[in-house]
Amino acid sequence: MVSQKDLFELIKSRRSTRSFKAELPPRDALERIVEAGRYAPSGNNNQTTRFIVITSQEKLGELRQVLTGVWANMPIKEGMPPPLVGLIQKAKAGPVDVNYGAPALIITANKRGYVNALPDCSCALMNMMLMAQSEGLGGCWINQYRLMGDAPPLRRFMEEAGLPEDEEICGALALGYIDQPASEPLPRKGNPVVYV
Ligand SMILES: Cc1cc2nc3c(=O)[nH]c(=O)nc-3n(C[C@H](O)[C@H](O)[C@H](O)COP(=O)(O)O)c2cc1C
Repeated sequence: MVSQKDLFELIKSRRSTRSFKAELPPRDALERIVEAGRYAPSGNNNQTTRFIVITSQEKLGELRQVLTGVWANMPIKEGMPPPLVGLIQKAKAGPVDVNYGAPALIITANKRGYVNALPDCSCALMNMMLMAQSEGLGGCWINQYRLMGDAPPLRRFMEEAGLPEDEEICGALALGYIDQPASEPLPRKGNPVVYV
């Protein structure tokens, strides 16, 4: 059994990785990470979270092009969230890599309209982030695949990659060896707690 101290250290030392080495981590490490995701709890024990693991650099390159194309073809409209406007502007200027060069990407999906789609996938993503940390790897939750999940070119790519028609993308995890200096946990100034 992992000690309470070790587990808390692992939780505290996890940081989002935004610079990855190109080297692909070994298959068995990736499989353990996915297994940790599969062992996450799910509402009603439904176990409907799907994991689409992309380690083909060719496919990751295609995916980058697909997503860049989605944004490059999007008109900027008033009221759009500033991060989206930033991505559209970037994509119009050149390729955008929201995965920060990670050599692996795990996309989680779940049944469209299922009330626990997002919570179930989030539990899986969190388990995978912690498992990655314990493997000496870094990860970063990438939201753009969920936000753009219904854009037809991304949808086509994902269905070709094995996403069934009745499922939607709920989140994604960029994974790989960390290529950035270690950093301290961010101070917790939010996340209020009330004990009653
Ligand atoms: C729901 C969710 C969505 C996120 N989406 C992104 C994202 O699209 N791109 C990104 O670089 N980081 C993303 N992050 C990472 C957060 O920015 C990061 O967790 C936060 O800044 C705290 O930093 P830390 O993870 O290093 O503690 C996301 C995190 C969560 C939980």
